[in-house]
Amino acid sequence: PAYHFQAPAYWMNDPNGPIYYQGEYHLFYQHNPYGENWGHMHWGHAKSQDLVHWEHLPIALAPSEDRGEEHCFSGSAIVDEKGTVHAFYTSIGPKTPAGDGAVQWMATSEDGLRTWKKYPGNPVLTEKLHGDLKILDWRDPFVWREKDAWYVVLGGHPQGGRGAAFIYRSPNLVDWKFLNILYQSQPEDQEGNWECPNFFELGGKRVLVYSPHNRVRYYTGDLQPDYTFKPGYHGVLDYSPNFYAPNCLLDGQGRRILWGWIREVKGPGWNGAFTLPRILTSRPDGSLGMEPAPEIASLRESHKKIENQTWNTRSTVLDERETGCVEIQAVFEASVGESFGLRLRPAPDSEITVPITWNRSTNQMTIGGQTFDFALDTGEKNLELRVFVDKLIVEVYVNRRICCTLVVPDLRPDRLVIEGVVEKGPARL
Ligand code: FRU
Repeated sequence: PAYHFQAPAYWMNDPNGPIYYQGEYHLFYQHNPYGENWGHMHWGHAKSQDLVHWEHLPIALAPSEDRGEEHCFSGSAIVDEKGTVHAFYTSIGPKTPAGDGAVQWMATSEDGLRTWKKYPGNPVLTEKLHGDLKILDWRDPFVWREKDAWYVVLGGHPQGGRGAAFIYRSPNLVDWKFLNILYQSQPEDQEGNWECPNFFELGGKRVLVYSPHNRVRYYTGDLQPDYTFKPGYHGVLDYSPNFYAPNCLLDGQGRRILWGWIREVKGPGWNGAFTLPRILTSRPDGSLGMEPAPEIASLRESHKKIENQTWNTRSTVLDERETGCVEIQAVFEASVGESFGLRLRPAPDSEITVPITWNRSTNQMTIGGQTFDFALDTGEKNLELRVFVDKLIVEVYVNRRICCTLVVPDLRPDRLVIEGVVEKGPARL
């Protein structure tokens, strides 16, 4: 990939502790600095002023073997009242295994996020907080401040139970109290465990994002006085199984910006990437709006515009490019035709195709190998596709509210054919 964020080399997975600090965006990420496969989890680090160009920085957190750590798992970062930054993460070692025995640690940076000191009194949260409630796979702290206290949610599941998010409070970031099971997966969803919960306020509602070892989902709803969550809308954050374990920050303009890990995207010497930064907004029906940060437009170069084009044939070539890096904005008049959209190919006659099509009668959207329900809202007249092709990554946004991030290893990195297609026509751009 040319413009999706990646580690300098080797393995990466979840975004960790994204934070907007002193006018800069900082990203950390699960990283194995010793190889192309998962292992030896460290926190890699990079920063940016514009969300587009990233400067790699030295590794932020490494496992302290002398203190029994083998991995620094996922977590989050916050700025305290004095302006000091603290990272919270799940510490894993032979005596604190991930399944049954994980503990939560804090590390602090006093020098503008260059170096980190682990709190001598670690762990700051242990399973003792839960009394008789036995929680397994307890990990991925997401910390925030509210009124005059600190809160954290963690993922996992009660022994023998379904995936859940757990909520805690602290006056000082080191003494924590277990408040409640914030929310637990519903039986019909068959989610045995939740990882990487994110919990934040957006447009007067609360958003709970979770990764159930499957498509990442979200709820919007309300936090109740007993620290349980009352859900309203339940949605899918990204329809691709290649998208996982997202994390987010609030920036200086009050924007909620989220990155997800793109998994199974790999090449010699590297494995993993992040999605583009996505801006989340709240919509009247409780669902989330999702759009790429507008800063991404600074990468645009030569431009072709096609207007008022109607076609009836099964396919028509709209553009061909000698590059594997393209942004497409396609606005279809939704009431014209019944089943239409775009198709990407590495060559006009290639067997390899990436369909991005919508069927107006069945309200089904197909993006690559993923098919799912998508209907227009009342008053919506267009189907708006925004597609970012970055060699083998195809990141699709539909009507500013649906995402699907595909990995297509067979797309040729240096060439792209963009076709308009109809199954039941016509189609009109
Ligand atoms: C999600 C996850 C987290 C964990 C991390 C370990 O991908 O499994 O739950 O903290 O990866 O790398």
